[in-house]
Amino acid sequence: EKIEKGGFEHFMLKEIFEQPEVVHDVMRGRVRLDEGWLRLGGIADYLDRLKQAKRIVICACGTSWHAALLGEYLIEEFARIPVEVDYASEFRYRNPLVGVEDVVIVISQSGETADTLAALRTAKEKGAMVMGICNVVGSTIARETVCGMYTHAGPEIGVASTKAFTAQVAMLYMLALSLSKGRTMSDSEITLHLRELSEIPEKVARILELDSQIKLIAERFKDAKNFLYLGRGFNFPVALEGALKLKEISYIHAEGYPAAEMKHGPIALIDEDMPVIILATRDNTYAKILSNIEEVRSRKGRVIAIASEGDTEVSRLTEEVIYIPQASGPITPLLTVVPLQLLAYHIATLRGCNVDRPRNLAKSVTVE
Ligand code: G6P
Repeated sequence: EKIEKGGFEHFMLKEIFEQPEVVHDVMRGRVRLDEGWLRLGGIADYLDRLKQAKRIVICACGTSWHAALLGEYLIEEFARIPVEVDYASEFRYRNPLVGVEDVVIVISQSGETADTLAALRTAKEKGAMVMGICNVVGSTIARETVCGMYTHAGPEIGVASTKAFTAQVAMLYMLALSLSKGRTMSDSEITLHLRELSEIPEKVARILELDSQIKLIAERFKDAKNFLYLGRGFNFPVALEGALKLKEISYIHAEGYPAAEMKHGPIALIDEDMPVIILATRDNTYAKILSNIEEVRSRKGRVIAIASEGDTEVSRLTEEVIYIPQASGPITPLLTVVPLQLLAYHIATLRGCNVDRPRNLAKSVTVE
């Protein structure tokens, strides 16, 4: 097992550190930058059908559901096709309104999650075309979908998903671009976005160098009883994922929220004992996020911000700032999620938790 961990103390940490390579691998054979070439082999024969979909519904569970939510933001932003996201467990029992004009995408790392498999079968019965995004090759979900794509992230051992999420999001980014081609985006625009994607491995590697800074922050906050994670736009699903990571492995109560929704509830919880992680990277929501930071500060909440390199505003307002490389909004989640994974990891290990095998959780939930 020690050898399998490749010198890392836990599988989870190893998998977090594999992410630059994972993003590289998910693009391999699918993208050629020089010509702005993008080809998703697993769906190539169905691409026209996908582009004509009246609506896309994405079903998943857990971390894969957070990737699904990003899928909605990406596909609607780039390809302008209406997307709906559902928890697989809800979709399967609520007699959903789907039919032959819809495409249902199921996302699953393991390809074996019982609810996701049932959602897939429900969608098929109702006549929708079903496409999969899975990591495990030959898994049940991969076999039962009509077409799909593998994320090629390699085996994920840590129960809390990290690199599989990154691979799913990179895959959805490429899918959204593919759906845009010849419809909502010119080839040169697509090339620009692909170029940004190709810069992600190096940018993630730079974030991983912040590991010791993040560990120091973890030491300062490890005894908190609650955490709030806030983000807007593309960073909202990341806030959900950051909070999920923390609760899964450290057993600290954490909630992710769209930053502007804070005033409709969570703001009542904020006091000097409440650390608030705020995703404050430079995008079109930046000014709004700064005012959310002020709202937390004026209630004595302790803010840990994730900000873009070169930003000087955020550090004036917050107790801790983690600076990450600049990137445009839609691709930012591939960066902002990384410090949140590391923060959860360090808080959990400092509290003596078994991060690779957290209590009560399973890597793959194959029963209801
Ligand atoms: C379990 C795991 C999570 C995972 C979820 C969905 O709850 O602990 O890490 O995100 O299942 O799994 P899937 O394999 O379908 O992505």
